[in-house]
Parts: sequence; C-alpha cells; structure tokens
Amino acid sequence: DKKITIAIDGFSSTGKSTVAKKLARELGYVYVDTGAMYRAVTLYMMRKVFVADGNFDREAIIRHLPFINLKFVFNNSLGYGEIYLNNENVEKEIRYLDVSKHVSQVAAIPEIRKMLVKQQQEMGKNKGIVMDGRDIGTVVFPGAELKIFMTASTEQRAKRRYDELKERGDNIEYEAVLKNVKDRDFLDSTREDSPLRKAVDAVEFDNSRMNLEEQFEKVLKLANDKI
Ligand code: C5P
Repeated sequence: DKKITIAIDGFSSTGKSTVAKKLARELGYVYVDTGAMYRAVTLYMMRKVFVADGNFDREAIIRHLPFINLKFVFNNSLGYGEIYLNNENVEKEIRYLDVSKHVSQVAAIPEIRKMLVKQQQEMGKNKGIVMDGRDIGTVVFPGAELKIFMTASTEQRAKRRYDELKERGDNIEYEAVLKNVKDRDFLDSTREDSPLRKAVDAVEFDNSRMNLEEQFEKVLKLANDKI
C-alpha cells in the first residue's frame, strides 16, 4: 500500500480530532493535532509575555519564539501523541477555556505560523499522516491526497465542547463556550495569514447528524479510495 497525507480542516469543535485519531489508528498512520501546537505556544505566552487582561506585546512574543520547544510523545495507553512544551506535558492545560480565549489572536501572528507550519511539514515529510487544523489542506500540505473539510452547526459544536469540558470536571457555562466557539470561528476565518477556508479540492462534510461511527466509516472509505 502507498502511504498518503490526509488533511482534516474545519471550524472549532467539529469533532475533527476524534475522527482523525481513530482514522490514524486504523491506518497505522501518525496523528498530529496542530491546534495543540498553537495552544501550547499560547500557554507559553500567557505565562511569560501576557500582561493583565490578556493584552500582549507582539514584539515580545516574537522574541520568545526561539525558546519554545514543542514535541509530541506517543502515549501507548491513549494511542496518540501528547504535546510537550519545553519538556512539560501540557495536554490538559491547553484545553482550558482561558487558553481557548486567547489562542486565535496568537495564531494570527505570521511569525508563529511560519515556525509551526515548518515543523508540521517536517513531521509529514514521509507521508502516512493524518493532520487536523485550519490550514492543513490550504497551506501546510496543499498537495495532500485527501482533504476533508468538516462542518456542523454552531450550537451543535458548542454543545459538544461544553459536554467535553463538563466531563472533565470544568465548572463552566454553556453560553461562555458558545461565545468562544463563535469568536474563534470569526477570528480564524478573517485573519490575514492563512485564514480558515475550504481548499478547492477538499471534500466537505457536515457531521451535525452523524454519530462517530458513521463519520469514521465515511472518512475511512474516502481514505481507502486514495490508498
Ligand atoms: O483545533 P483547535 O480548536 O484546538 O485549535 C485552536 C486554535 O488554534 C484555533 O481556533 C486556531 O486559532 C488555531 N489553529 C490555527 N491553525 C491550525 C490549527 C489551529 O490557526 N492549523
């Protein structure tokens, strides 16, 4: 079998990563969550550079970039790689709403995108990869053999994210999650550098009315058609 590159893009909380992880496991491919990379950089900046109210100095952010080391370490029991920021496992901390609130502003900075895109391209250079994010099919791997663009209604997405956070024991309001999903969608699709959009050759699919198993079957079939 030949190995291919699979790019999965879409709005926040469309369930991209759940499907992508399952697909990667099934195919024996590497899975990379690029959102985790932007989140980890944001966490670093929140700790080192941000001042009160989440304001930040763009130049200071750029000066700190060389001190950020990101890596994914495969966790056998989870079946995918967890993200490490300068050797600290931050997989859990990067999912907090506080990080979600700032990540889209940080991710709009071209110097950061340039650094992370380079690392992502390096991770995918031997193919056999499933990568999810916002610009994978348009910028990171424009030549990917399979591109999927996932959508679902805003309310559905906010509900999913809310359930996930609740499940983890976060004390959080649905309205706050909904607002964050809307804010990120807006910032991610209107930024100047690599805005979120569907690649012309991406297969679009709305999973509002599909359960995980149905989504997985569909994606697996699309992949097998290309392999
Ligand atoms: O995928 P996730 O929701 O964890 O991504 C968090 C944020 O990281 C997005 O809202 C977006 O601002 C940014 N991101 C990006 N490009 C990617 C992946 C994520 O700008 N490829």
